[in-house]
Amino acid sequence: MADVRVRIFADARTAAHTLAGEIARALTDHPQLVLGLPSGRTPIPLYHELGRLHALGRADFAQATTFNLDEFLGVAPDDPRSYQTFMRQHLFDRVNLARRRIHFLDGTAADPAAECDRYERAIARAGGIDLQIVGLGVNGHIGFNEPAPALLANTHRVRLTGLTRRANAALFGGQASTVPKDALSAGIATILRARRLVVLATGASKASAVKRMLGERVTTQVPASFVLLHANAEVWLDRAAAGKIKP
Ligand code: GLP
Repeated sequence: MADVRVRIFADARTAAHTLAGEIARALTDHPQLVLGLPSGRTPIPLYHELGRLHALGRADFAQATTFNLDEFLGVAPDDPRSYQTFMRQHLFDRVNLARRRIHFLDGTAADPAAECDRYERAIARAGGIDLQIVGLGVNGHIGFNEPAPALLANTHRVRLTGLTRRANAALFGGQASTVPKDALSAGIATILRARRLVVLATGASKASAVKRMLGERVTTQVPASFVLLHANAEVWLDRAAAGKIKP
């Protein structure tokens, strides 16, 4: 196995709570922490735990900055189906992040390419991402970097696969056909530029993707396998997601 640190927890809740505790401590040591964040079902327990720690006075986001990985193209920031709304519900409304330090790709930007460039510049201006957390798609995607013969390095517009549209159908009333065909996503290089990278994957449905991610072959057909190139990457799993890798 490659040189990434793999941590296996008894269950998803324990993984999420441990990661929330590490983030709270990192905020204490470094209040101006720059976080890269995913959406999806996986980080929900992490975000709720951060909200709980904040309410207890143990996680102060007053000076922190966040950048989210991705957004659906054509979906407005305040649309109930947007990732931005999702993040407000699960994290932003629960902690004391300053609105101006919450960064999101705007799915309704008139010029998507210019919007992607703006995002890269904003990350650079913030000094880069200290801790990037990513979820894992069942097809091995990270952010919305879908398996393909080649990947775009930086933030870009991407065509979503049918599988990914089905996986996101719940946000769109359960119907994959209503999920936008395109999205904006941080690129693999955007993700790899973070100083620390944590892949969080839980549940048996991710076990095959985890196995392929850690399979020693870096391939654009498994975009998550690029984390093997990062000098400070960790893969956090529950037992179910670790079910197909050797202990
Ligand atoms: C989605 C998102 C990713 C997310 C992944 C896994 O399509 N674009 O950012 O990490 O797929 O989602 P989930 O955590 O719901 O399984």
